[in-house]
Amino acid sequence: MERRSFVGLAPAGVLGVISPEAGEEAPVFSGPRQFTDYDEWLNESRRALLAYLKAEGPANTERFMQFLAAWVTGMPKTPSPKWGSIPGANRSLDFAMLSSGRPFVVTTFRMAPGCRQPAHCHPGGGGVTLCVEGGLVMRHFNLLPDQPPFSETGAKVEIEETAIARLTRDTFTLFTPTRSNLHQLEAGPEGAVCVDIVVQWQGAGQFSYLKLRSEDAGAPPRPGQRLRGEWVGMDIAKAYPEGATHPSS
Ligand SMILES: [Fe+2]
Repeated sequence: MERRSFVGLAPAGVLGVISPEAGEEAPVFSGPRQFTDYDEWLNESRRALLAYLKAEGPANTERFMQFLAAWVTGMPKTPSPKWGSIPGANRSLDFAMLSSGRPFVVTTFRMAPGCRQPAHCHPGGGGVTLCVEGGLVMRHFNLLPDQPPFSETGAKVEIEETAIARLTRDTFTLFTPTRSNLHQLEAGPEGAVCVDIVVQWQGAGQFSYLKLRSEDAGAPPRPGQRLRGEWVGMDIAKAYPEGATHPSS
């Protein structure tokens, strides 16, 4: 398997080597090796991340997600999932849990060609989304300051598009609790299968979809643009613009 690569959202210094001061010994960055056994990867990555948390604490979510992303580069093929379907999406959308536990869970989802997961948030959470089959466009957004929280269903909010990740096989992107915590995913003509490696700092994983205004739902991806919509809760069917929802097949 080819080494995975990171798409979009690259913050300064991600996985980088810190330039040493004159006379200082150059630090050596040693990433994880490429694993061939999923359980071995799971055990070793969890051990490394728990050791990181013990040494550094949980406060710096950005750094933790970067460290997690480094481990995702060494993840082998995941086990075959037992798919369950998510009703209400515009095209067939399936989901499965691969590994529960801490400090991260591993899930997977499968999108039929043209399937869209409308914009939604992951309050208190962060995640790495790795494409393992097909391709998709993942648009990242920030909630603008002083907006009503996701729990206020029906409240209107404004978001800003921060980055666009066009994922194909073996590429990934990430979000954190404070950066690009909202995203929208749309599968390309081949459909897409992705693996999510998800961390929850606060909350129990509750979230809300955001139904964009119809004029904003059709806006092409563009970093920096602002879009408006309203929180509609956890039912994906309520997040599509009127007339765009099709029964799951
Ligand atoms: Fe998501």
